[in-house]
Amino acid sequence: ITIRQARAGDQIAMQQCNLMNLPENYHMKYYLYHFATWPELSFVAETENGRVVGYVLAKMNDDSGAESPLDGHITSLSVMRSYRRLGLAERLMNQAQRAMVELYGSKCVSLHVRVSNKAAFSLYKNTLKFDVDHTEKKYYADGEDAYAMKKNLEGLY
Ligand code: ACO
Repeated sequence: ITIRQARAGDQIAMQQCNLMNLPENYHMKYYLYHFATWPELSFVAETENGRVVGYVLAKMNDDSGAESPLDGHITSLSVMRSYRRLGLAERLMNQAQRAMVELYGSKCVSLHVRVSNKAAFSLYKNTLKFDVDHTEKKYYADGEDAYAMKKNLEGLY
């Protein structure tokens, strides 16, 4: 299985993967907005037959609020069930983080994860060494809280 940069044309397969794996779903134009604005930051995991079995959708923080514009953000990550525990999510995340550092000079990467999502939390906390920055109450549409997690990227790539 190969990890490669996502491109326009992948959005249908990525959306399919997203719909099957996560309750947070996005309009096609949100994928295209990511590809158009930060074409180097999103990646897919593809089988030999060209089937997309995982993706990471990533961006730079563009809200001119409190957060630094040099911070990267992971919008969404998922891997199809029968391809899990093969290290694909870790590889996808590493590619996105590396691109954030090398192309945007990013110092930090952030994400949100459901407090009940043990698999993803373990991936972020134990494997990728993110820390919990704070908890966002009722972050999700169904009322569940999110951990807002962050990782310092300085000196890593
Ligand atoms: N239970 C405990 N630890 C886990 C689990 C699990 N089910 N899955 C992964 N991990 C941890 C382990 O430490 C694992 O290393 P190991 O297999 O050597 O023990 C490590 O993470 C690396 O795992 P990967 O194989 O890289 O992860 P995978 O490719 O299976 O994908 C993912 C993990 C993305 C969380 C997958 O389970 C998935 O798609 N889940 C549904 C969608 C989802 O929850 N996405 C994240 C939402 S948050 C967001 O999008 C910002």
